[in-house]
Amino acid sequence: MIKHARVVTLDDLADATTVVIPVIFDEEGALIAEAIPGQVAGHDVARTLDASWCSARGLNATPGSTLVRASFAGPTLVFVSLGSSYNQAEGFRMAGASAVQRGEGDVIVFLLPTDPIEFPDVAAQAVVEGAMLASYGFKTTDEDRRFEVVALGVPLPSVADHDDVVEGVRRGVVVADAVNWAKHLIDSPPNEISPKELAKRIAQRLGENDDVQVEIWTESKIRDERLGGLLGVGAGSAEPTRLVYAIYQPRESRAHVALVGKGITFDSGGLSIKSGEGMMAMKTDMSGAAIVMATLSIVAALGLPLRVTAIAPLTENLSGDRAMRPGDVLTTRNGMTIEVLNTDAEGRLVLADALALAVEANPDAIIDVATLTGAQAVALGDEVGGLFASTDELAELLQAAGERSGEMLWRLPLVARYEKHIESDIADMKNLGKNGKAGAISAALLLQRFTDGRPWAHLDIAGPGRADATRGYVTKGATAFGARALVEFLWQVVQDDEGTPRDADDEPAQHLDLEASVD
Ligand code: BES
Ligand code: MN
Ligand code: ZN
Repeated sequence: MIKHARVVTLDDLADATTVVIPVIFDEEGALIAEAIPGQVAGHDVARTLDASWCSARGLNATPGSTLVRASFAGPTLVFVSLGSSYNQAEGFRMAGASAVQRGEGDVIVFLLPTDPIEFPDVAAQAVVEGAMLASYGFKTTDEDRRFEVVALGVPLPSVADHDDVVEGVRRGVVVADAVNWAKHLIDSPPNEISPKELAKRIAQRLGENDDVQVEIWTESKIRDERLGGLLGVGAGSAEPTRLVYAIYQPRESRAHVALVGKGITFDSGGLSIKSGEGMMAMKTDMSGAAIVMATLSIVAALGLPLRVTAIAPLTENLSGDRAMRPGDVLTTRNGMTIEVLNTDAEGRLVLADALALAVEANPDAIIDVATLTGAQAVALGDEVGGLFASTDELAELLQAAGERSGEMLWRLPLVARYEKHIESDIADMKNLGKNGKAGAISAALLLQRFTDGRPWAHLDIAGPGRADATRGYVTKGATAFGARALVEFLWQVVQDDEGTPRDADDEPAQHLDLEASVD
């Protein structure tokens, strides 16, 4: 697994075991940028390659497709497609992934021609993210491969002359390392990652940054603070419940965003027990917690001028003899009561408390992330996240951030008429919607009741939270889907009106005045 990446010069090519050259396609075929040397690793490198010759060898306009030229001695040469443009971050992410998947040996060097690229920092970040994310393997944490980037163009190749590329590589390393950390936590077996252990691992990682404060709430604190939803879910497990409350507070702060992540370390369904098949991948149910904590750690490492509060309720949904029963009524943090009619709809119970806590921190906006409903996966499949938002501005910014990061989000409606689906005869609401109907929406409507009318968004990632096979830089298993979109969103929030656009094909960045959207 690749843990670092750095910028080197052409002189350092001597160490390379693989050299990667990006190409783009137009009507004439594959084009190679002028800045790439005419001779690389003993191979002549032409400026154009015939399209049919390339496609017969697997290289075409599909981003990430490759043509591999092995050498008898010296590094392997890999041509990799960016698609049809130098200005699509996704093309660079796919190219980075292919570079490590098709490249040979321990030192993969990517030649980055800065000239035709409008935003070399965005390209450098993307190629490093793609490479590092693709290099993830649960069992290969010790493997030490290197990924290096050579910036080519005017001014000529001294690393110091390419601050933007150096900066992009640094961002890519920070982002991908944290996302891989989250993926590893999520892929870890649930007997190892108990709520207590998860809290400890999160505190360990976040504690490395001086601007971050982390509190771990134990059960007695959680009881004192009256988090009845969280305690109800945790009652059926012998493992103690925890809650992680983390704050990143930089010296200068332009906004305050609260993040809330679902942290069910294993979801058996409780007494409303799942089938064996249905609970096979339910260690994934703490993804939201890992994702929001990874996001906070990235924002802190990048030093963004933005306060972030991240709250993760951590517990296990089992069916022990103290387990909550269908029919129980739980009293949550803000005093609202919920009738539990299905113990498998546990995510909304723990999130109700955590959202109420987030409101008390008085943020400009609240965003929660959860593997919440099977209905989300039915609606949008396993490559698109469900996005709910109480304001159009938040929805638009998050959708755009998703597009730039390659994590597609699609907005679903908070249908007011479906409020009746969660009405209860004996409590303020019930945790179950109408059978077989709009399950992702009724769950979101319940969550909204705990947000006190604030700007709020909810990402239901039940589908894209896991990948059943590797595709590009998305590796099989845990994906930590949403972390990169959230970072991109928060990055956008702190941009000035003249801020750097994140991708050449996008509208210029706008400063988000979150406070203005509070009614
Ligand atoms: N963690 C599950 C949702 C889930 C399902 C995530 C599949 C990933 C893949 C959640 O706690 C759950 O069990 N939801 C129920 C709710 C229902 C009982 C109202 C569901 O979606 O079936
Ligand atoms: Mn469940
Ligand atoms: Zn669950």
